[in-house]
Amino acid sequence: MATAPAPIRIAVVGLGIGRLHVISCAELKDRYRVVAVCDVDEARAREVAGWLRDVRACTDLEEVLAADDVDVVDLCTPPAQHREQVERCLRAGKDVICEKPLVGSLREVDELAALAEETGRSVMPIHQYRFGRGVQRLRALVDAGLTGRPYVANVDVAWRRGADYYAAPWRGRWETELGGTLVSHAVHALDMALFILGPPVGVWARVATLVNDVEVEDCAAVTLRFGDGSLATLSATVGSAVEISRHRFTFEHLTAESGTEPYANGKEPWEITVPDDDHRAVVDAHVATLPAQHEDYVGQLDRYAEAHATGGPLPVTLDDARTALEVVTAMYVSAREDREVLLPLAPDDPALGGWRP
Ligand SMILES: NC(=O)c1ccc[n+]([C@@H]2O[C@H](COP(=O)([O-])OP(=O)(O)OC[C@H]3O[C@@H](n4cnc5c(N)ncnc54)[C@H](O)[C@@H]3O)[C@@H](O)[C@H]2O)c1
Repeated sequence: MATAPAPIRIAVVGLGIGRLHVISCAELKDRYRVVAVCDVDEARAREVAGWLRDVRACTDLEEVLAADDVDVVDLCTPPAQHREQVERCLRAGKDVICEKPLVGSLREVDELAALAEETGRSVMPIHQYRFGRGVQRLRALVDAGLTGRPYVANVDVAWRRGADYYAAPWRGRWETELGGTLVSHAVHALDMALFILGPPVGVWARVATLVNDVEVEDCAAVTLRFGDGSLATLSATVGSAVEISRHRFTFEHLTAESGTEPYANGKEPWEITVPDDDHRAVVDAHVATLPAQHEDYVGQLDRYAEAHATGGPLPVTLDDARTALEVVTAMYVSAREDREVLLPLAPDDPALGGWRP
């Protein structure tokens, strides 16, 4: 009988949302052993280390990188630190998981891809929303050729963020947050849309700062155009009284609409309406064959552990993050220059160097 692979020895760095990474690893206890947690705030590091047995509390990434018992470093630090920290981890011989937004430019994504190749290590960006069972169900229907052609998709990200949220010194500023609601909030919904539809060929966006007294945008309205002629809209705000996220995909043979749970609308319930009775029976039969896998962070981390053990493809790749960040880049350029931006960007496009003003 084959023996189960040893659990991945992981260190989680940055213990805001990183707390949820620790909890998710603990849920997957056959897959992961959290050996260290790290935060520049020592009290935080000690508190979280105390949640599990035999976890070291560190206050400096260097301590984590020097440790022989760390296989994977999971970076959950503020965005502007990611580029340099991912590089340090790779050079120290560690595999890396990194929260969104991975980095602040496509060139930096490409540099990290080259470095991963050179060091023989891997980088998995976090895009956990796409592991909801609802959006996975739709993806399986697309893969099986059961949706027909896409016509229009509508994506709404209506969240609420105020002064408390922007009190964190890194938020609300181009230099440290790397962008506003497009990069920080809508990127999840964008990733889900691209997971279903693939990359667009044209982007036209408008952005505005209307809700908070911050440097970056906190509202956006975007149209996307795809190579097959289909269209999508995306709207984002942090000023909504009621928080929702919603995706609605209109295909030739069916319409799929997500639930509205703001931070997990990839999960069920999704309403899939198939007008034709015979086709509905085929769709239902296919759906009945789909395995029920973990969702959310646990879903991404579970699949990551599987890939780690088997050498299979990572559940989210640098290419996936690049695709979403290329669309984000196009959105900012479009809003600034009031024009449609065509994708993919040319290799000599100055926007490859970043979207910040
Ligand atoms: N995928 C998601 O749904 C999701 C949700 C929230 C945040 N995020 C992303 O996660 C990252 C962190 O966001 P957050 O909301 O947790 O921020 P936060 O400010 O709440 O927490 C960041 C933590 O990192 C610590 N830290 C800062 N610099 C550090 C360093 N050099 N070494 C070790 N620790 C350090 C801080 O002390 C703090 O405890 C951001 O990139 C954010 O966009 C992703």
